[in-house]
Formats: sequence, C-alpha cells, structure tokens
Amino acid sequence: MNQGHFITFEGGEGAGKSTQVKLLAERLQALGHTVVVTREPGGSPFAEKLRELLLDPATPPHDALAEALIFYAARADHLNKTIRPALFAGNWVLCDRFADSTRVYQSMASTLPTDVCDKLDDIVVGETQPGLTVVMDIIAEEGLARAHARRLEGVAPVDGEPEADRYEARDLTYHRALREGFLQVAKMNPDRCFVVDASDEAEVIAEKVWSKIATQVLREAL
Ligand SMILES: Nc1ncnc2c1ncn2[C@@H]1O[C@H](COP(=O)(O)OP(=O)(O)OP(=O)(O)O)[C@@H](O)[C@H]1O
Ligand SMILES: [Mg+2]
Repeated sequence: MNQGHFITFEGGEGAGKSTQVKLLAERLQALGHTVVVTREPGGSPFAEKLRELLLDPATPPHDALAEALIFYAARADHLNKTIRPALFAGNWVLCDRFADSTRVYQSMASTLPTDVCDKLDDIVVGETQPGLTVVMDIIAEEGLARAHARRLEGVAPVDGEPEADRYEARDLTYHRALREGFLQVAKMNPDRCFVVDASDEAEVIAEKVWSKIATQVLREAL
C-alpha cells in the first residue's frame, strides 16, 4: 500500500513544469517532509539511459508503438527502482511528466491507439497512480517561446538539458495538439487532474498548487 504522496506535473514544452516541481519540493522540504524529485523519461539509471535514446534529435522518427514501448520500459524501471520504494517509505514523490505525457504525445497527438495506452498503463503503472496531477496549460507559442528564450539566454534549464529535443523541434500544429491532449486528459480524469493557467507568474501558480495540495492531498491524508 502506498503511504506517501505521488504528484505528477504535466503539460507541453516550456509550460513551467520543472520550475513548479522545484518550488513545491522546496516548500515541502521547508516543512520537514522528505521529497523525492524525479522525472520522465528517466528517474532511475536504466531509465535515464533510455531517456537519452528517446530524446536524441539525431534519432530518426520512429513508430509510435516502438516509442511507447520504450517509454513504458523506462517507466517500469522508474516505478520499481524509485517511485514505489519512495512511496512505500512514506515520502513525497514529485514527478516531472509521467504516463499522461505518453498518452498525449504518442497517442492523442500521434498514432498509437488509445487502448494500447490503457493496456500498458494497467500492466506497468497499475495501482501506482498519482494522487494529484498538475496540468500546466499554456498556448503552444508561449511555451515554445519560453523554452527557446531559455536556450538563447544560455540559462541552464531547470532539468539540466540545453538542446532542443526531438519533440520540441516539431511544428506548431503538433504542439497545439499536445495542449488539447492534456486538456482532454484532465477532462477525462477530473478527480486526479488540476489544470492551472501556466501563463501566470511562477509564484502565483505555486500558490494555487499549494492550495490544492492543502485542500485535497493533505486533507485526504488525515
Ligand atoms: N510562470 C512562468 N512565467 C514565466 N516564465 C516561466 C514561468 N515558469 C517557468 N518559466 C521560465 O520558462 C522556461 C521554461 O520553464 P521550465 O523549464 O520550468 O518548463 P518545462 O515545462 O519544464 O519545460 P520543458 O518541457 O522544456 O522541460 C524557463 O526559462 C523558466 O525559467
Ligand atoms: Mg522541464
């Protein structure tokens, strides 16, 4: 049984996911909680290797199924090596992207049938579903502009990768479909998902997320 709290952050490129993960982690740590900050793809040594493969702009586009299977292989390892042990120990786990991203990127905005996503989710994620998913909503142009500006300014990205990855380099139509996909996921999972306007200032968003945690996650834990 999970004793900790599993919170995921989702949304398109440059929405501010990594920024919010960091702010929430700092807030929880200041209150004395043990927080495991992790990300997808990645989050365990094997999954981080797969991340390199998945995000490499030099890798030619591949089949959405092949791609999704690699994402789920990485996710299986990440869950077993990092997420489940941390939850079992009663920690907070904050994850920068998770299964909703595969559903949106490989299925809703690409060609993978939804039922394949459902099955992989059942097999790999099972009952380890996030208690709360923060969906960072922003128009595609603004998110991409932020990610682009971050690179032009030479600012180190919050999650440590300087180059545009394979997904970020895709066209605007694709990124608009991603935004719609995340909003659709939120509609389909209203109890789990919390949509925030990611065009607000980072501190304003962090307050909204904190209020949600105080009213939903912490109250449920009482
Ligand atoms: N609310 C905000 N308002 C303005 N700029 C922001 C906001 N949140 C983050 N930023 C800036 O936008 C850029 C992208 O933020 P961040 O790296 O947190 O986004 P991300 O969703 O993790 O992006 P990616 O999908 O590329 O990992 C960074 O330079 C960050 O400082
Ligand atoms: Mg990020």
